Amino acid sequence: MTDLEQLVAQAAEGFSLATDGTALENEKARYLGKSGVLTELLKGLGKLEHAERKTEGARINAAKERIEALLTERRQALADAELNTRLQSEAIDVTLPGRGTPTGSIHPVIRTWQRVEEIFRSIGFEVADGPEIENDWTNFTSLNSPENHPARSMQDTFYIDGLDSDGKQLLLRTHTSPMQVRYARLHQPPLKVIAPGRTYRVDSDATHSPMFHQVEGLWIDENISFADLKGVYTSFLKCFFETDALEVRFRPSFFPFTEPSAEIDMAFSSGPNKGRWLEISGAGQVHPTVLRNMGLDPERYIGFAFGSGLERLTMLRYGINDLRLFYEGDLRFLKQFS
Ligand code: FA5
Ligand code: MG
Repeated sequence: MTDLEQLVAQAAEGFSLATDGTALENEKARYLGKSGVLTELLKGLGKLEHAERKTEGARINAAKERIEALLTERRQALADAELNTRLQSEAIDVTLPGRGTPTGSIHPVIRTWQRVEEIFRSIGFEVADGPEIENDWTNFTSLNSPENHPARSMQDTFYIDGLDSDGKQLLLRTHTSPMQVRYARLHQPPLKVIAPGRTYRVDSDATHSPMFHQVEGLWIDENISFADLKGVYTSFLKCFFETDALEVRFRPSFFPFTEPSAEIDMAFSSGPNKGRWLEISGAGQVHPTVLRNMGLDPERYIGFAFGSGLERLTMLRYGINDLRLFYEGDLRFLKQFS
């Protein structure tokens, strides 16, 4: 007679040693499978006497039920364990501080651009925008810049492949001044506008970058003089730098498109360059030839224009001594302005 107690104990141990579903099902097959031990025992019942068959059958079935119960219990235990492991590996600690996405910030030069727009809008200037690829007439000739002007030379200007409608080579605008003519030809005086944007020159040192930003200013009416230029520009600077204590000088200069002309310098009030002068702008009274190219009568209209470097204004505002820092993409530098 088979020791069913031992068989049940054996099954219990086998089941508990099975650490995953597959192992457990293999173990089950040893007892309850088609040719499992218990299945074989039940098959053997037919050979027994009627009375014996009954008691033996009941014994085997009882053992079978206990083994099935053990199996169910173990299945459940394995399923629970698997669920727990999953829950643990996917656990979220809601008490941890959030990781967040780092937020970007506005580049210091663009911040200057925005401030300049804000200030000039507040005193009634329009804001205009124009192309960075210019033709020869608008960038030079219309501005009374003679053919032999040094700014036209191959060393100063980035020329690009392609010709304009006059058969001249196209170029990256060397200043925002072509916007004076573009705007004036599309609008009626009084003209009161600024035109900020990117400009390009073959230039590179601590105060010059091959791509830089200028803001052009233009005010034309029947009685706008050089004195207005001084007044408007000085009050712009006071607003921009948020102080009246500025060291600014208008230095006589020359531009073909203004007469008289000046360059505007400002002294650093902080940083390694403290006390040093830096040119921020060209300016002057719009030349009669330029007024004519705008389609205006120089006997009737008069006005001023300026073209200022946005990098230079930014350098002065924050006491930065090298403008190349703006374009190196070094986060240690840029983060200071966020
Ligand atoms: C001009 O570009 C004239 N168009 C300005 C002007 C406009 C005069 C209207 C009269 C009337 P200038 O070359 O000086 O002038 O440049 C003007 C300003 O742009 C400079 O004072 C400086 O602030 C800035 N600038 C010029 N070149 C660079 C450069 N390579 N990198 C950074 N800033 C520059
Ligand atoms: Mg200059």
